[in-house]
Amino acid sequence: MPASAFADLSLAENHGCTQCHRFTQEASEEPPKGPDLFYAGNKFQKNWLENFLQNPVVVRKAGYTSDPGFLKGTPTVAQPHPSLPEKEAREMTDFLMSLKLSDLPASPVEGEPLTKGEKVRIKILFERNFGCIACHEGVNLAGQPRGGISGPSLANAGNRLTADWVFHWLKTPEKFLPKSRMPLYDLDDETAVKLTQYLMTLKIGRQN
Ligand code: HEC
Ligand code: HEC
Repeated sequence: MPASAFADLSLAENHGCTQCHRFTQEASEEPPKGPDLFYAGNKFQKNWLENFLQNPVVVRKAGYTSDPGFLKGTPTVAQPHPSLPEKEAREMTDFLMSLKLSDLPASPVEGEPLTKGEKVRIKILFERNFGCIACHEGVNLAGQPRGGISGPSLANAGNRLTADWVFHWLKTPEKFLPKSRMPLYDLDDETAVKLTQYLMTLKIGRQN
């Protein structure tokens, strides 16, 4: 890591973020209390991060998966998530956006918008064929979140996540999380691209 990244890591330490999150890939003694952030620059949209750090929202309504109370509805990690003032949130966002895996190839996802027909077909994949909605919230016709809560909400995936990262998560989740609770689907590239494009259309109200 360059020296400046170490300086920023101490910023995260000073704010207590390192108590719950991993900012490097090194194994931690205990399971982390919050999601890994060492690939935050691949995963998140910058605006979402900057908003989240100032006005955190709940993404995992059942708690984080390493939480002992996960699925019992009694997550022990204190809510609400700590928040930062604007200036610190900006600094932290710049630091987080600099954290990237160096070995991710370019994804084949293009910015082409889905036609209405494609969107309907992929929605059926998401809701019925693969049953993603059993664990994840999507967005219903009224623009409201709808779906299961054992996985992170995807109701705002289009404002929150990058298309490239979603594609890589669907194809090679082990690059980010060695043991995930999400089923492995062995999707071909075309299906993974379609699902990614569909998730990127999911947006609710505010930017975050
Ligand atoms: C007490 C533990 C704790 C501390 C301290 C903490 N976090 Fe978190 N953080 C969490 C948990 C748990 C989540 C998941 C919340 C959710 O999904 O609703 C989270 C979510 C996040 C996310 C979104 C990650 C994702 O994949 O959805 C970011 C970014 C983040 N935290 C950054 C920070 C920063 C920066 C700090 C320091 C200012 C910090 N956190 C301090 C526990 C913590
Ligand atoms: C059995 C429940 C389950 C099913 C079914 C499921 N997932 Fe997941 N998914 C999860 C969990 C849990 C995570 C969080 C990773 C973890 O902690 O293991 C996750 C993570 C994700 C993420 C990353 C979200 C983030 O913010 O980190 C995306 C994107 C995703 N899933 C998409 C899908 C898609 C698309 C499908 C259907 C093809 C699907 N999931 C099916 C449980 C599920």
